[in-house]
Amino acid sequence: MRIGTNWFKSLALVVGVGVLLAGCGSGGQQTSGSGSGDKVYVVGTDAAYPPFQMLEADKISGHDIDVMNAIAEAGGFKIEWKNTGWDPLFDGLDKGTVDIGISSITITEKRKEKYDFSDSYFEANQLILVAEDSPVTKLADLKGKKIGVQAATTGEEVVKKAFGDTYEGLKGYDDMPSSVDDFFNGRVDAVIGDNGVLSYYVNKVQDKKFKLIKDDSFEKEFYGIIVKKGNADAMNKINDGLKKIKENGKLQEIYTQYFGNK
Ligand code: ARG
Repeated sequence: MRIGTNWFKSLALVVGVGVLLAGCGSGGQQTSGSGSGDKVYVVGTDAAYPPFQMLEADKISGHDIDVMNAIAEAGGFKIEWKNTGWDPLFDGLDKGTVDIGISSITITEKRKEKYDFSDSYFEANQLILVAEDSPVTKLADLKGKKIGVQAATTGEEVVKKAFGDTYEGLKGYDDMPSSVDDFFNGRVDAVIGDNGVLSYYVNKVQDKKFKLIKDDSFEKEFYGIIVKKGNADAMNKINDGLKKIKENGKLQEIYTQYFGNK
């Protein structure tokens, strides 16, 4: 089951931050890079994934945004941002209205069939968000319970893997904030999603009545930047820029800015 998108406002009330209003409609645009070529690469993202991609005062910001801007700068090419949302990001790449995608996208074998991935720029894993007094201690304990995920993500994959493709309790949302919002309002028993994002939400809640659980089956995931399969021109530039910001410490600097020294 897939559920609509419009529960942001109550979530923002619950957690009390303006940045959570990310994802409502169109996004801001920025350019970066200083290349001599005329080509401006359109970079698509789902800017409702704090602190990786967010919308603040109509401007796209966040960890991945800083990373991509730094890559363009280091790789000497120009980019333009487009807040596409999650599913439309992949459609945009297919149709050619988007050249590059960065959106905390986990490198998976299935996605590699259709897209080329850059080297990895971030390591992540899934986590389970439940109420603090929940008896749940592992994924298997969620059997029979309602689980919210962002549709077509690795969070959805782990639920399907554990409970089957047609698991009735699975609720897929178009974006992550909607799933978290439904959780805080008691419409799902748990949310499964990327550690960085769920930690962000839990940390925003004043009196922490929630906990995050890592199941033993959750594997390491690596985020990569994608282009349409065969777009070697863009991919070479991306990997070149990424290599440079790994070597000169910029990538680490951006990480520390968002996540401290963890
Ligand atoms: N890392 C997960 C995946 O690749 C979730 C990414 C969702 N990103 C987003 N911007 N909503 O499936």
